Amino acid sequence: MTVTANPRRTHLAALAEELPDVLATPLAGAAFGPGARSAVGADRDPRAWVREIADLTEPDSVVWCDGSAAEKQRLIDLMVDAGTLLPLDPELRPGSYLARSNPSDVARVESRTFICSQDEADAGPTNNWREPDVMRAELRGVFDGSMRGRTMYVVPFSMGPVGGPISQVGIQVTDSPYVVVSMGVMTRVGSDVLALIDAGAPFVPAVHSVGAPLVVDRPDGSVDLHEDVAWPCNDTKYIAHFPETREIWSYGSGYGGNALLGKKCFALRIASAMARDEGWLAEHMLLIRATSPEGRAYHLAAAFPSACGKTNLAMLQPTVPGWKVETIGDDIAWLRPGPDGTLRAINPEAGFFGVAPGTGIDTNPVAVATFARDTIFTNVALTDDGDVWWEGLTPEAPEHLIDWRGDDWTPADGAAGTPAAHPNSRFTVAAAQCPTIADTWEDPAGVPIDAIVFGGRRATNVPLVAQAYSWEHGVFMGATISSERTAAAEGALGELRRDPFAMLPFCGYNMADHWAHWLSVGAGLDPAKRPKIFQVNWFRKGADGSFLWPGFGENSRVVEWIAQQVDRSRGLRTDAGAVTSAVGLLPAEGALDVDGLDLPQGTLEALFEVDAASWLAETELTSEFFDTFGDRVPDQLWAQLARLRSRLGAE
Ligand code: OXD
Ligand code: MN
Repeated sequence: MTVTANPRRTHLAALAEELPDVLATPLAGAAFGPGARSAVGADRDPRAWVREIADLTEPDSVVWCDGSAAEKQRLIDLMVDAGTLLPLDPELRPGSYLARSNPSDVARVESRTFICSQDEADAGPTNNWREPDVMRAELRGVFDGSMRGRTMYVVPFSMGPVGGPISQVGIQVTDSPYVVVSMGVMTRVGSDVLALIDAGAPFVPAVHSVGAPLVVDRPDGSVDLHEDVAWPCNDTKYIAHFPETREIWSYGSGYGGNALLGKKCFALRIASAMARDEGWLAEHMLLIRATSPEGRAYHLAAAFPSACGKTNLAMLQPTVPGWKVETIGDDIAWLRPGPDGTLRAINPEAGFFGVAPGTGIDTNPVAVATFARDTIFTNVALTDDGDVWWEGLTPEAPEHLIDWRGDDWTPADGAAGTPAAHPNSRFTVAAAQCPTIADTWEDPAGVPIDAIVFGGRRATNVPLVAQAYSWEHGVFMGATISSERTAAAEGALGELRRDPFAMLPFCGYNMADHWAHWLSVGAGLDPAKRPKIFQVNWFRKGADGSFLWPGFGENSRVVEWIAQQVDRSRGLRTDAGAVTSAVGLLPAEGALDVDGLDLPQGTLEALFEVDAASWLAETELTSEFFDTFGDRVPDQLWAQLARLRSRLGAE
């Protein structure tokens, strides 16, 4: 429809209506867009900033969110009316909804993810760098009027328990109610956060627009009014980070890590830069508490690249008698040296945004129980009785489904290669609903970390588990995490895809500086309390191409050995737990409990085999990899590489 008059309401009027008391101030003042600030947040005025963004994006109205249940229900009702959310059967899946995204907006867009540090070298060779002023000018262009015809929601959120010593706060503005509701699950949203910010807590400003204004100017001065769609988005996308000014600007996508800005953008990319500057660590790690039959608790933080079973390990059901594993976090950990010399960690998130396919009763019953109710599913299939399904939820697919695109689907379509659920379809659910959530998961002071674990997906070379000889050796293990390319991925078969610290897409600064930072954080910890570092690999294959290790609940056997090694390092056990090898300490004969596993003859040997020739070949690749970071690679890591080569018998 075309009309001649511009029907926009003035957003200032709307702002005045919606401002809560705590923030109610006069709205006069100059408009200022991206580029105006230089301080790291301490002098940032939330009211002025919101006004600035409203001036730029021109929403019809501005709503300050309080994170209440009533607000959530209001937004859900609005989305159900708009067709964005489909209510699931209340008997089968109470309080739950299905969203179907635009088929072009289904995953994080790494090629459009930018780190805009002043100096390109500070972003490093693994990030897309853009000059901050250039990016600010570009953003100003795309955000100009990007919310016209829409409501701008202001979402004050805390990463970590509100006011906690390891926590941080942010404000996301967004024109997507789906994002508001999801942020309410994934973070802590509320007036208490706003009160903290109003009292002077520096906040990370995070601007998000789906980039689909409903009111668009025509050259003749009239305007086009666009009909809204169920999942608005834009083919042009920007996920831009300004690590020095701690800002996030996200445009064009409504999906996951692109749009829920507390997660990858804040809790990893911006937080890693904060952590570098302030002496802590923001990492792509799950957090668990494992309790032994004797009642001793061990806290583990574990980094795995995406799609390596992190959520499964976070919700591990041990098969080893007497052991209990409880969940603290499934994706991100913030670790800070505590006053007592330990490394303390929190899960900065409040929910799980888990990959649905492959999550089933057999593989992760805890996750299945977690999303039994009050869950938002995105891009999964719909059953005829109003429930959800995806590949791996049950062994057999139902006879008929509506697939993630909204089309009819039968198992024949699956056999022909059309999955019912998108491979990156998700469940968004509160962590508190997890039956194995630890009672300490919200302790603001965090939990003391006993062991740090690095994992990759390696068919060859990397043993089931190895312990680092030292903190430096452990940092070397983290820096060299890798997975082999499979036939399905681009590139030469067997080529190593590096994912240092599982942070490749998530480190907000130069990855080699991140290694140096790890070295310095470790050096500052009390050596007696410093976590021990381990490397694990659940994915080693035998000569016939099948997995050597059963994985899943059986991984508790490895957790048990890790815990026992921690005890040995503290003098709490005196039995021999490990033997040396070129690549690290390996379980001594009989130290890894494999009772009842019935592993075929030779399996354990194959799981722990260290082949010097192929490891030496791998060290050449590591050297080439380090070279890509030039002189930013810490000398200690080159020294670790040299030591590994010498342990392998290199000349
Ligand atoms: C995630 C990821 O979504 O790591 O957690 O990609
Ligand atoms: Mn992740």
